Amino acid sequence: MWNTVVLSIGIVLVILRVFKILRLRSQLPPGPSGLPILGNLFQIPTSRPWLTFDKWTKHYGPIFYLNIAGQNTVVLGTPKAAADLLDRRANIYSDRPDYVVPNLITGGMHWAWTQADDLWKRQRRGAHEALSVQTAKEYFPYQETESVIMLDQMLTDPEHFFDHFQRASTSLTLSIIYGWPPLLDSAHPNVLQINQMNRQILVAAAPSSFWVEFEYFKWMKHLPRWMCAWRRNAEKAFGYHSDVLEGMSADVQKRIDAGDESKSVVGKLLWDSKNLFEAAWNSASIYSAGSETTASQLAWFMQAMVLYPDAQRIAQEELDRVIGPDRLPTFDDYEHLPYIRATVKEILRWRGVAPLGLPHRLSRDDYYEGYLLPKDTICFVNIWSLHHDKEVYGDDAEHFNPGRFLDANGRLKSSIADTKDEGHHSYGFGKRICVGRHVANNSLFIHIAFLLWAFDITAQVDEYGKHVLPDSSQCTEGLTVRPTVFHCNITTRNMEVAEIVAQAKADRGIGS
Ligand code: HEM
Ligand SMILES: *[C@@H]1O[C@H](CO)[C@@H](O)[C@H](O)[C@H]1NC(C)=O
Ligand SMILES: *[C@@H]1O[C@H](CO)[C@@H](O)[C@H](O)[C@H]1NC(C)=O
Repeated sequence: MWNTVVLSIGIVLVILRVFKILRLRSQLPPGPSGLPILGNLFQIPTSRPWLTFDKWTKHYGPIFYLNIAGQNTVVLGTPKAAADLLDRRANIYSDRPDYVVPNLITGGMHWAWTQADDLWKRQRRGAHEALSVQTAKEYFPYQETESVIMLDQMLTDPEHFFDHFQRASTSLTLSIIYGWPPLLDSAHPNVLQINQMNRQILVAAAPSSFWVEFEYFKWMKHLPRWMCAWRRNAEKAFGYHSDVLEGMSADVQKRIDAGDESKSVVGKLLWDSKNLFEAAWNSASIYSAGSETTASQLAWFMQAMVLYPDAQRIAQEELDRVIGPDRLPTFDDYEHLPYIRATVKEILRWRGVAPLGLPHRLSRDDYYEGYLLPKDTICFVNIWSLHHDKEVYGDDAEHFNPGRFLDANGRLKSSIADTKDEGHHSYGFGKRICVGRHVANNSLFIHIAFLLWAFDITAQVDEYGKHVLPDSSQCTEGLTVRPTVFHCNITTRNMEVAEIVAQAKADRGIGS
């Protein structure tokens, strides 16, 4: 009986939705025509959809429309369209898609995925204070320490460079948030648990994991609990994750009560709000948004070095001139290393880890360039397209070339329009712009400076003496991407490197 009722209600709602879209179609932005009910669902490839979107942008213009099984979606394909809507109208373009299962798994507390509501505002304000340009400077010592450990691990096990990047960014985030000492190995049970939660969220958010995520089936979220295994499982996961996270934050409170004065984001959040549950989930949100992105971005950096040895040579000449072989780089060298800073910008431009950013959702009807954008439309920016536009970046837009950000005197040029002085869009837009961008930027800077100071990063040579070059168009699937596994030859640049790293470890009291 129930099944028949549910099915009939479902069919009626689907039909109403289909007619609504048909009625509005002539006012919506142009776009590829699709099937009557499922729309463009099957025209969007799961692998590297930005390439298909890029073609559609070239054909339909700066904004095009997709009907994804009833979900109104637009893709913005120019810096101006992206900035006009997501930055300049941020007050109505800052919600997220209504992810039902991910929000159940996190109890609606993981604010990177929630609507721009009061909870989000509170959480984001707390995170912003802990990660602002100014506060980010307090983390320089942590970041230098992580880079020392990273170099040390590269010296003994260069083959697993990605693991070392992953360890370093996980460890840094944990130090900042919970005040933990550096983790020499990322197989800590709590870390594995948060990583597992992240995977659960990302899998649940991927299209086609759950029917309820499709617009036509959103009504399923009103079904009684006993009918929905997905709801019961997600709620169970929430309880389990919440216990671990609250435990981690409660430990910080205990340390503070015992007189420990070391700083941490949790400590500050608890001091401000006295709300353990919110502090625990705010911290988890920051951790989960921040730990993998930086490591993936560094994997792209390694690939760029293999493919563009000239850029590597120029960067190393700068390091040799400013620092020399006798000491490690530090943040004090920042002003004197414009080419390294340009390399940070260029790696975020050439292969940003989120080619489509994170989706924003429009909270009321709006008009742009004469087109209607209905309330609840999901907006993607094809950041990949923006970054490969020859009109903006020149004919070599496809290639890695940090020099594009420098003037004739080797100084950083003032920036490209609508990029908020970054020269790229990889940190996102409007009120949702990456809150960890200063910390991320600094991590990339110090890692890159350390790596190029210590190593030559080159292509491996095969048995016939030929260079084995990675294919930089291949990457993993998902909202954030890293290169598919590739190998490179990492060799120390001189005899002193190992000794200086060992000394730096000893100075910082890092065990082995
Ligand atoms: C290279 C590294 C990173 C890149 C490329 C990156 C990129 C992004 C992007 C594209 C967004 C979505 C922006 C939008 O919706 O328009 C985002 C959001 C976010 N990022 Fe990052 N990120 C990085 C590192 C970090 C780090 C290190 C942290 C924390 C320490 C962090 C914390 C966050 C948080 C909490 C959000 C959610 C903001 C919100 O929804 O209001 N990210 N990031
Ligand atoms: C990142 O670093 C570059 C180069 O130093 C700088 O121009 C940019 O403003 C920085 N961005 C952030 C978000 O700190
Ligand atoms: C790595 O580079 C070194 C030094 O240039 C060279 O001797 C060695 O054969 C290279 N190894 C591989 C696997 O390419």
